[in-house]
Amino acid sequence: MNDPYFFTSNRLGFRKFKDTDLEFFYSLNSDPEVMKHFPSVLDKEQTLSLMKRFNDHIDEHGFGFYAVDLLSENAFIGFIGLKRTNFEADFTPCVEIGWRLDKKYWNRGLATEGSARCLDYALSHLNLNEVYSFTSLNNKASERVMQKIGMKKIGEFDHPLLEDNHPLKAHCLYRISK
Ligand SMILES: CC(C)(COP(=O)(O)OP(=O)(O)OC[C@H]1O[C@@H](n2cnc3c(N)ncnc32)[C@H](O)[C@@H]1OP(=O)(O)O)[C@@H](O)C(=O)NCCC(=O)NCCS
Repeated sequence: MNDPYFFTSNRLGFRKFKDTDLEFFYSLNSDPEVMKHFPSVLDKEQTLSLMKRFNDHIDEHGFGFYAVDLLSENAFIGFIGLKRTNFEADFTPCVEIGWRLDKKYWNRGLATEGSARCLDYALSHLNLNEVYSFTSLNNKASERVMQKIGMKKIGEFDHPLLEDNHPLKAHCLYRISK
């Protein structure tokens, strides 16, 4: 049998998105609590197009935002991974690390475990010199994950893709170097 995963960590498997992920990924992307720190929830069509973009990114760059399975339950739980980011800022273009999990799986250390694995993949296997992460200032859970995987806060910035008075505009910026 072909291994479905690019790589695994203790509890997680990292793979491309597949069609059968759509319903669950849509339920996650349309949940206002999960999407509290994003400009809007996503409908099913937007979710499908996001899955396609994530997979296209993996095809193009050899890494990306991976669909993540919790191995013990053989369950798809969200995404964790790496992405090339090009919006206008003084730290771009760069590779960022990011995550979004269904709330049923929060606070079990899964984002920390998975992102630490992706970071190791980025620095050791892909040989990247540095990886960035950022989130809106009030997303404390996400910022905590950045700290737990050894990233350091290097500043704050206003996200250029959000309008000036947007409540999520102010972001913290973290980086880790090889
Ligand atoms: C961010 C997210 C991926 C974290 O996933 P997770 O698997 O719960 O993360 P972990 O369990 O590895 O770690 C979470 C840490 O944040 C802490 N935390 C959770 N909620 C918090 C809050 N409101 N304030 C401060 N810390 C908080 C936890 O206590 C834990 O830290 P600890 O181990 O020091 O106690 C998850 O909350 C999520 O999917 N959120 C919605 C999507 C999102 O915001 N993505 C990031 C966008 S940049």
